[in-house]
Amino acid sequence: MIRERFLKILQAGERGEGLSSEDLDFLLSAEDQEEDGALFQTAERVRKEKVGNEVHLRGIVEFSNICVQNCLYCGLRRDNRRLRRYRMTPGEILDCTRNAMKIGLKTVVLQSGEDPWFTQDRLSGLIRRIKEETDLAITLSVGERPAEDYRAWKRAGADRYLLKQETASPALFARLRPGRTLRERLDSLRALKELGYEVGSGNMVGLPGQTEKDLVADIQLFKEWDFDMIGIGPFIPHPSTPLAESPAGDLHRSVKILAVTRIVTGNTHLPATTASGVLDPQGRKKALLAGANVIMPDITPGKYREHYDIYPGKTEPQGGMDSLIQLITSLGRVIGRGAGNRRPPS
Ligand code: 5AD
Ligand code: SF4
Repeated sequence: MIRERFLKILQAGERGEGLSSEDLDFLLSAEDQEEDGALFQTAERVRKEKVGNEVHLRGIVEFSNICVQNCLYCGLRRDNRRLRRYRMTPGEILDCTRNAMKIGLKTVVLQSGEDPWFTQDRLSGLIRRIKEETDLAITLSVGERPAEDYRAWKRAGADRYLLKQETASPALFARLRPGRTLRERLDSLRALKELGYEVGSGNMVGLPGQTEKDLVADIQLFKEWDFDMIGIGPFIPHPSTPLAESPAGDLHRSVKILAVTRIVTGNTHLPATTASGVLDPQGRKKALLAGANVIMPDITPGKYREHYDIYPGKTEPQGGMDSLIQLITSLGRVIGRGAGNRRPPS
């Protein structure tokens, strides 16, 4: 049964009215199939109205699994000695992006651990080469760096930057990312916005110690910062990390947070994340039916891909491009044709 208050909140959200933390909490704490259905349908209407039927594909090149950070949740953390580390050469990365263009992708995401070998200059040089040789939009996802690096890379031609908040709880953030603070993370996000990047954030759902209130705070932060992209996915414990024994996040909960985020943020880009597809083979489809409009296929060369082991299941193929295209078209959606900017390029 759909309660009157539930429906009222959904309707207010759909009209673009701001929702209070109590409203968000009420939406998330519902545990009724009919209410879930109404939530997902509302998210889908908002998705259709604000961003249409296009699903944008962003090819990810995971070019180095070397990381100086020690995040408790991540298999690439510095102290994980069981991981075989690799670093692709700029030439190999460039080849990957040429390939991305050949298979019709419009955006590449260059992602790595926080790897100091990729200095400001090395990455600037690579970005310039990619821009000379392809017409791809470039998204960087290489962690927290000085604002001067962000500036140089923007000048070199980078278009977008992904840096997830991970959690809006300062205490949880500090516990899970030793030596780092949420404040510094937000300072980086602010710098990126000021430089004119399209900026992506996101969180993990079901982190050990994360409360309902923390998740509401995540959604409020998404709204307040008006991010251009927001990646939402379940936490998945990795056996070679201190969180090995913690339970995984709940996919259904993660999809609900995605749906509420769609309703609250309107036209932002929301990926059906890889982590959603790991916990359930239908995970990405469920996300696409709850407001998502982006998929990020992994285009890292096979010999490296298996070592980009952020969480278990991550490196297993979730079907190639053909099955992705089939999934998208089977839902009555179309592959995004252009670069898929949220804002018109300046
Ligand atoms: N489970 C799910 N997502 C994770 N990430 C890192 N570790 C995990 C994990 N164990 C996500 C973080 C990071 C992105 C690269 O992967 O959100 O930003
Ligand atoms: Fe490094 Fe990012 Fe993993 Fe943290 S989440 S250990 S910064 S790769």
